[in-house]
Amino acid sequence: MSLKNILRAAVILSVFSATAANQREHILMDDDWQFAFGDASSPQKDFGNGTEYFTYFAKAASIHNEGPYSPKFDASKWPQQWTSLDLPHDWVVDLPFSGDASHSHGYKTVGFNYPETSVGWYRKTVFIPESDKGKHISLQFDGIFRDATVWVNGFFLGNEPSGYADQTYDISEYLNYGGDNLITVRADASVEEGWFYEGAGIYRHVWLDKTSPVHVDNNGTFVSYNLESPFDKAEINVETTVRNSGRKGSSYKVRHILLDREGNTVAEFDGGGATLAPEASATTTGSATIADPTLWDTENPYLYTLRTEVKADGATVDTYETKTGVRKAEFDKDRGFVLNGKPLKLKGVNMHQDHAGVGTSIPDALNVYRLKELKKYGVNAYRASHNPATPEVLDICDSLGIIVMDENRLLGVNDHHMRLLNRMIKRDRNHPSVVVYSVGNEEWGVEWNEFGERIVETMRNAAHLMDPTRPVAVASSSGPTVLVPADVAGYNYILQNPVEQHRADYPERRAVGTEETSGCGTRGIYHTDESKGHMAAINRSKSGPDSLYNAIERGWKFYDERPWLGGLFYWTGFDYRGEPNPLKFPATGSEFGILDYCGFPKDEAYYLKSWWTDEPTLHILPHWNLAGHEGETVSVWAYSNCDEVELIVNGKRLGRKTMPKNGHLEWDAVYKPGYVRAIGYKDGRKIIDKRIETTGEAANIAITPDRRVIAADNRDLAVCNISLSDSKGRFVPDANVPLTITVDGPVRILGVGNGDPAFQAAERPTDRAARTFQVSSFNGLAQALIQSDGTPGEATVTVSAPNLDPSTVSISAR
Ligand code: GAL
Repeated sequence: MSLKNILRAAVILSVFSATAANQREHILMDDDWQFAFGDASSPQKDFGNGTEYFTYFAKAASIHNEGPYSPKFDASKWPQQWTSLDLPHDWVVDLPFSGDASHSHGYKTVGFNYPETSVGWYRKTVFIPESDKGKHISLQFDGIFRDATVWVNGFFLGNEPSGYADQTYDISEYLNYGGDNLITVRADASVEEGWFYEGAGIYRHVWLDKTSPVHVDNNGTFVSYNLESPFDKAEINVETTVRNSGRKGSSYKVRHILLDREGNTVAEFDGGGATLAPEASATTTGSATIADPTLWDTENPYLYTLRTEVKADGATVDTYETKTGVRKAEFDKDRGFVLNGKPLKLKGVNMHQDHAGVGTSIPDALNVYRLKELKKYGVNAYRASHNPATPEVLDICDSLGIIVMDENRLLGVNDHHMRLLNRMIKRDRNHPSVVVYSVGNEEWGVEWNEFGERIVETMRNAAHLMDPTRPVAVASSSGPTVLVPADVAGYNYILQNPVEQHRADYPERRAVGTEETSGCGTRGIYHTDESKGHMAAINRSKSGPDSLYNAIERGWKFYDERPWLGGLFYWTGFDYRGEPNPLKFPATGSEFGILDYCGFPKDEAYYLKSWWTDEPTLHILPHWNLAGHEGETVSVWAYSNCDEVELIVNGKRLGRKTMPKNGHLEWDAVYKPGYVRAIGYKDGRKIIDKRIETTGEAANIAITPDRRVIAADNRDLAVCNISLSDSKGRFVPDANVPLTITVDGPVRILGVGNGDPAFQAAERPTDRAARTFQVSSFNGLAQALIQSDGTPGEATVTVSAPNLDPSTVSISAR
């Protein structure tokens, strides 16, 4: 599917514009917000929030108050500067680092020690026409980190402590029709929710929904299928919840139309109906049989659209669309994960939501990029660790055919936890990519005791009520107790879970590897230098702990050899900020990724590519720019899916070896500048001849945008990867060169990065109109995210460096 189509599926199609009066509008509200820091240390410094005689908890309308939630707010009375911005926004990206700040959050100066930079206020004005009077209007936030309080026109709408829950507020009663309306959000990131970088602010989309009074409720459809081998027909079942937010009772009827990819009607059926008193809602069901459905799977992620029409008093009052895929996903105690009757090993990665240059505020196009990069190495599964994924990530996984384990943020059974679980399931249960929910991760306090067992059982039962079609997993770091009531056991690391013993003790258990270590190291680094925050991959060091040697191979071999295990998820797909374990400051980012913080591959990515794809692969490491290590013995490794590999170093033949299944090959060589050549054979025939050489200094800059044409929509972007080569055109794997990025035309520099886990420079210009910005290359590579500024036209991106010829690419915004 083309990127345009993926994005359309992800966002644009979900904007179902009104075609007639009283029809649904789903309007993106990301543009034109004002932002300023509040202060967590004192309400007086926090724009007086909560110091008023009648606070917003005292009276419904804070009309006499003058805080940022009030139209009477006068910014000039306060020292804080307000800036204009568009969402998604993560204010932590712009904060400085400090060795005293939180290790888990990447040493960024946010959190309880930094009250002046831990509360953010957002304000936006929106005009609502007079003609909207009588409609149901709601405001939806997909994610605000965190402890978000929301007002409209001074009316307190609510508060959501979690940074990972969506929040929807009915605002119909509070609006000025035919006038301006003020939306205000206060987010407080003083307290951490996770033990990884979480950013801060409105980092996901905001939507304004306008519907008829009688309408399909928020996340109001649930589509499921009965289908059995030989899969030549499927029964589609749809539950539809319709709400009447009008002033009078109403009778309605629901009709469903299932459309194929081309828009042809595949089935049309009755969805039930009811009579609703004002403020009442009802859930009705409908079903139909589809002959010869095109199944959704990882190779052909075929999506249908279910169009749901609601008719009341003879007119169509709502049309609601649900993307859907017909598939049967199961975890089986003997066959592992089974999709449409066939076992499919999950070749998965764990992912946090964090990218160089933007932190958690990842534009949709960048999420597409991230997922496509993972697919290049054979990844077919994604664990949203440790929180429900951004909605568009699930749309993209649906479109690209990536299986998802969706994870709840916090284990527990009271309102806070159940609300989060409920919202995740109701939001995500129509995604064909989502095959399992995880309710917890490494809950050390309860893993071994019956508290854990009881809590998981209650959460599992609640999850089954909301979605009886998907199993519930829990990811465990050790004992069996918490896993007993889960439908699927999740093992975090085979070294700390006696997986075989559990198989013997619990033969009925269905299981998957929720975490397994990938190698942990810095891209392009073969000699650890902790003072720089750089680490040679721990899984290639024989002098490190035995437990870590060859960890990436141990993990995959173990899961590949046991058909009863569903597959595994490596920790992690991409590096992320925070948890730079086992290092400390100045390292600021984790090094667990098979790809770095920008998505540039580390050596381990080629191990996975060798065994997770059929593409002929041969990768040699280390690079041969090891100045300062002349005369030392170097272990040269090859990751490959060739049958045999022969190695030649500086003209000396070091031998042709047979590649063990799911393994690697290694030879000892003495380092001297020169070259390493590896020849890969398949069925005795030479199929790959690879050569890496000691290079000269960087002499050339190459810019490779992932796309040359982007939408002129103020959102879309081109990921411009920058690489350095020497005068002979050879990639320079240790080039750390200051680069200047300059743009011309209707684009902006959204953010930059280079994958260095000790990156501490600025990641984006503070002035969004800036035409130029600096970033250094790290081990030969850097990245610039070049975003449309909303106007169509031709743009250029130029990268220059001292003493090198600049390089320019053009990008067209249409
Ligand atoms: C796991 C944990 C992950 C991450 C990882 C780092 O135990 O589940 O969230 O912290 O360790 O090694």
